[in-house]
Amino acid sequence: MAFKTDQAERLERHGQSHLLRWWNELDDARRARLDAEIAAVDLDQLDRLIAEHVHGESTAAVPTDRVEPVEVVRLPETDGERVARRRAKEVGEQALANGEVGVVLVAGGSGTRLGFDGPKGTFPIGPVSSASLFQIHAEKIVALGRRHGKQPPLYVMTSPDNHDATVWFFDQHGRFGLDRPRFFQQGQMPAVELGTGKILLAAPDHLALSPDGHGGTLLALAAPGADGGPSCLDDMRDRGVRTLFYFQVDNPMVEIADPAYLGLHRQADAEMSFKIVERRMPDEKVGVVVTVDGRPQVIEYSDLSPELAGKRRSDGQLEIWAGSIAIHVLERSFIERLVGKHRLPFHRAVKKVAHLDDAGRTIKPAEPNAVKFEQFIFDALPEAERWSIVETDRLREFEPLKNATGPDSPATVHQRMSDVFGDWLEQAGAVVPRRPDGSVPFGIEISPLYALDANELKAKLAPGLVVEKPIYLH
Ligand code: UTP
Repeated sequence: MAFKTDQAERLERHGQSHLLRWWNELDDARRARLDAEIAAVDLDQLDRLIAEHVHGESTAAVPTDRVEPVEVVRLPETDGERVARRRAKEVGEQALANGEVGVVLVAGGSGTRLGFDGPKGTFPIGPVSSASLFQIHAEKIVALGRRHGKQPPLYVMTSPDNHDATVWFFDQHGRFGLDRPRFFQQGQMPAVELGTGKILLAAPDHLALSPDGHGGTLLALAAPGADGGPSCLDDMRDRGVRTLFYFQVDNPMVEIADPAYLGLHRQADAEMSFKIVERRMPDEKVGVVVTVDGRPQVIEYSDLSPELAGKRRSDGQLEIWAGSIAIHVLERSFIERLVGKHRLPFHRAVKKVAHLDDAGRTIKPAEPNAVKFEQFIFDALPEAERWSIVETDRLREFEPLKNATGPDSPATVHQRMSDVFGDWLEQAGAVVPRRPDGSVPFGIEISPLYALDANELKAKLAPGLVVEKPIYLH
């Protein structure tokens, strides 16, 4: 007997019956696939999102008069501040040595802007070695394990689209020497047509689905393992992991499990912490950390009024200056509390989404045609009872790979990595050539397994090295 769907009536009620347009032409296996995908969509929730974000006005903008700058632990400048920072570092180092820190790497994004064929983490980014983003991150974690005596467990978030390719890549490389990385998948949301709110079909038996945003991390950490086994949070609890260092795959400069940051988080007894950099331009595309009615929150750059975005203090600094670079520390207990009772809001993103037209042809739109729904991890901040916001040096720690060319592209990432490694070499007594603008003229790279920071390099490298051509220390 032919496979029947019990979704028809449900779809009818929600105005999405077109999803069964090709039902009669599908074989049972393909019907089963479509049926399962439709069953997984929360249509009541989707109705609300469509009403708000497709048919309604998205009113994300916050009234300017309620927004205030947030208090930030600034980069240490005085001796006293440097001593305090060293103390915080010791606290973080102790947490690492105790095995209380886990690392969460989110890599479920689609990487549309980069346009690379494969998970973004597999992109060869090392300026000399062509090491992948995943390799660079993994080597830092292995190096941390050597330094502190315990390797922080790594949890890698993937999406159904890139999960297998990601796991395969790690396996091909012997998991880069990591003890036991765990891969967990985030959820997906259907893309709907701009204007009508109709769910788009990617194929006769397949919805146009996309990952539910990096905010999906929280629910995905709490979800049972692939075989119904323990969730990542259960696994962390079993291992005695209390504190999670969260970062995104596309920034190879991130100081993973930075002990001083972990220590500041602990000293503040914070539930969630943010690393921020000083925004340079009013229209810079980073979310800003502010307080609204005294509670901290992040406002997306697109929701910031131009007046507020450009407002300057008497010393010329932007008043709302704390730009989030998506490097967080979260307490495991905070996530457990959140997933039990609170759902992060969904934001809308208007994107180009390939889909089937009424005649069954695949349309690759030239202009944005669809609304995607995504949750953002930073929306957890207002739920935290205590928090800390810590400034870092953008030049040292933030150069994400987003685009194929132009800003935030392989070229800018190579240059920045090489410049920073050039600084490390100079601090270790080497001679490094520089262009008039201070940048280095060719690739310089240091594997985290060779040296995790400038001090380690200094201790290792005999002075007198003259760098005359591309160099990779590993
Ligand atoms: P981006 O917001 O830059 O998105 O993600 P993206 O999907 O990588 O790239 P575009 O916008 O399609 O070009 C920032 C970080 O959050 C992760 C990404 O993998 C990246 O590390 N992310 C994003 C997820 O893990 N899941 C998502 O659903 C979205």
